Amino acid sequence: MGANVKDLLAWCRRHLILVIVLTLVSIVGFVYVNIQVLHMTSEPEFCHLCHPEKGFGALAEVDSWEHSGHAEAGVSCLDCHGRPGIVGYVKAKLGGLKDTYMQLTITPEEKLNILENPDEHLVPSEQCTFCHTDEGNAEYRKKHKYTMQVVEMRMLDSVKNPEFRERKGLPDIMEDNFVGGTHFNHRFHIETFDMECNNCHFGLIHRAQSKSDRMNMCLICHAENDDSSAPQLADCQTCHEAQYDMNLGKGAKGVAGEQSLMWAADVRCEGCHTGAEEGQFRPTSDTCTNCHEADYVDIFNDWASETKSRLEELNLIRSEVELLLKEADKRKRTTADAWKRYEKALYNFRLVRNDGTHGVHNNEYANAILDSVATDFREIQKGLNEAW
Ligand code: HEC
Ligand code: HEC
Ligand code: HEC
Ligand code: HEC
Ligand code: HEC
Ligand code: HEC
Ligand code: HEC
Ligand code: HEC
Repeated sequence: MGANVKDLLAWCRRHLILVIVLTLVSIVGFVYVNIQVLHMTSEPEFCHLCHPEKGFGALAEVDSWEHSGHAEAGVSCLDCHGRPGIVGYVKAKLGGLKDTYMQLTITPEEKLNILENPDEHLVPSEQCTFCHTDEGNAEYRKKHKYTMQVVEMRMLDSVKNPEFRERKGLPDIMEDNFVGGTHFNHRFHIETFDMECNNCHFGLIHRAQSKSDRMNMCLICHAENDDSSAPQLADCQTCHEAQYDMNLGKGAKGVAGEQSLMWAADVRCEGCHTGAEEGQFRPTSDTCTNCHEADYVDIFNDWASETKSRLEELNLIRSEVELLLKEADKRKRTTADAWKRYEKALYNFRLVRNDGTHGVHNNEYANAILDSVATDFREIQKGLNEAW
């Protein structure tokens, strides 16, 4: 035995370089395997093992995420459920170990109870402002001086604003007062009333929430019950900037338009939104028949379905263009002008999407805007492909 060990050591000395190389290879291999394990256990498919239900609410967290705008934009579980940077990532992974331990030790009822009553700071506002503001992003980086990223493990660690926001077509919520189609001052409301994101964006992702729920939240202060200069219920167009612009045929960058057929004939918001005072904010196609023949319902349906499928189609092209631009950046090509054009197209795309009516408010203008978005996307693709 002793002789064998000695022989081995002697052999190693003679082949020192080979030994060093083999050792390095196995260390790299070990790290690689571990990184793959970290990756795998961060994937929604993994979370799905223990959070498997469909729909919304407790246990359905993976399914509800899958149908969210965040998922569509590539924002995954640990981008919200883990603080930024390597330290935040490791902490989140340790939390995962605790999850696994709990899974084995608590009863299904206890698990359900925990999931049904998430701590209100489970995802702190700081997490949201890291991606959604320039100030929050910079502050976090200043406070936590450690390296943010060594290898790419998730989207969050590479988020650097304003670039990230702009390329995703997102406003800086503390600076911009035109957000998601609404005229709304986040800074004023958050600072004056000491509010957190989840006071208004309750149920973001995992709980079903309707837009009416959100509007009712505003009406706690903005109903006809005080004499402040804040807009009141009847001032639809103060808050609903995208819908107002759409009715008037303005607001898109570089696309001229005209008033909608109805607006031009002096039909105002309340003309169609007849149930608003009673809390029925959203009208149906039936409202068309208040003033028109029954077959105008078909016109409504045609407008809506056509615009809806165009939006879906363009959204697919949008992701292709974004990928193409990122590829071009990796190859160090000049893309500044193409990104500018992309951001403009995205702004226009979001204006139509945020109007929320699939072109019902002003079909001609909505289509003119989408035409221009399609042209922008096509030209960017052409430009990048040509220069290969
Ligand atoms: C082995 C099963 C298992 C897997 C896999 C799993 N979880 Fe969980 N998770 C649990 C259990 C059990 C609980 C409730 C007990 C607890 O808080 O740890 C839980 C709770 C949570 C909570 C709420 C914690 C709290 O304090 O309220 C979050 C957030 C969460 N999981 C996210 C995830 C994410 C993200 C993944 C995938 C990366 C994941 N889980 C994968 C079993 C699991
Ligand atoms: C955009 C941020 C965001 C993303 C992405 C996200 N979550 Fe959440 N998650 C939240 C917030 C905020 C809460 C707090 C509770 C709430 O508002 O519903 C939460 C709560 C939870 C909880 C606690 C139980 C519950 O139902 O509230 C679990 C478990 C969970 N998330 C799992 C996941 C998993 C798994 C994924 C990925 C498939 C994911 N989350 C993606 C923001 C996010
Ligand atoms: C990793 C970065 C990131 C984090 C963290 C993040 N978001 Fe987002 N968020 C995005 C992106 C990207 C979009 C754009 C999705 C799209 O194109 O519609 C978005 C969209 C939104 C929207 C628009 C509507 C929707 O649901 O699509 C709201 C509201 C929002 N985020 C709020 C929040 C809140 C509140 C938090 C914290 C709980 C949060 N976000 C955390 C990146 C992030
Ligand atoms: C007083 C209510 C309120 C609070 C508090 C609030 N928001 Fe908002 N937020 C809104 C409204 C209203 C809109 C515009 C309409 C919509 O998209 O729902 C909006 C829009 C957004 C959007 C724009 C989405 C888009 O499509 O461009 C993001 C992102 C967002 N909020 C993030 C946050 C974050 C992050 C916080 C916490 C720091 C926060 N909000 C706090 C009410 C609020
Ligand atoms: C806690 C009470 C409260 C809630 C909730 C609230 N607001 Fe306000 N809001 C105010 C007050 C107070 C003012 C300031 C009025 C003034 O200028 O005197 C204001 C002002 C405004 C203004 C006009 C100022 C400007 O920026 O042009 C808008 C628009 C507005 N709020 C929209 C909203 C929306 C949308 C929501 C729901 C997401 C909301 N508010 C929720 C209290 C509230
Ligand atoms: C104080 C600001 C404010 C005022 C005034 C206001 N809204 Fe809203 N409304 C909101 C917000 C915020 C939402 C949620 C938007 C979102 O999440 O995209 C909303 C949502 C809606 C929705 C969608 C409802 C649903 O469940 O789909 C309709 C329709 C609507 N509003 C119509 C009106 C009409 C009509 C008026 C005027 C009579 C009006 N609103 C006045 C802030 C306001
Ligand atoms: C010609 C009738 C008509 C007029 C005029 C009109 N609306 Fe609408 N609006 C509708 C219909 C119909 C829907 C529902 C569309 C749907 O469900 O697809 C709607 C939906 C909405 C929504 C919900 C959008 C979303 O995000 O889901 C808002 C907000 C809104 N209108 C605000 C306004 C405002 C503000 C005005 C005035 C500037 C206005 N509307 C004028 C018919 C009208
Ligand atoms: C409050 C009454 C009112 C409502 C509600 C209304 N319209 Fe109109 N609409 C008018 C008026 C007034 C005109 C312009 C006069 C005309 O040419 O008939 C008009 C014109 C039109 C036109 C072009 C001219 C024509 O008659 O074909 C179309 C198309 C149209 N409306 C579709 C709709 C659809 C779709 C809805 C439901 C989303 C709707 N309208 C809801 C009052 C209304």
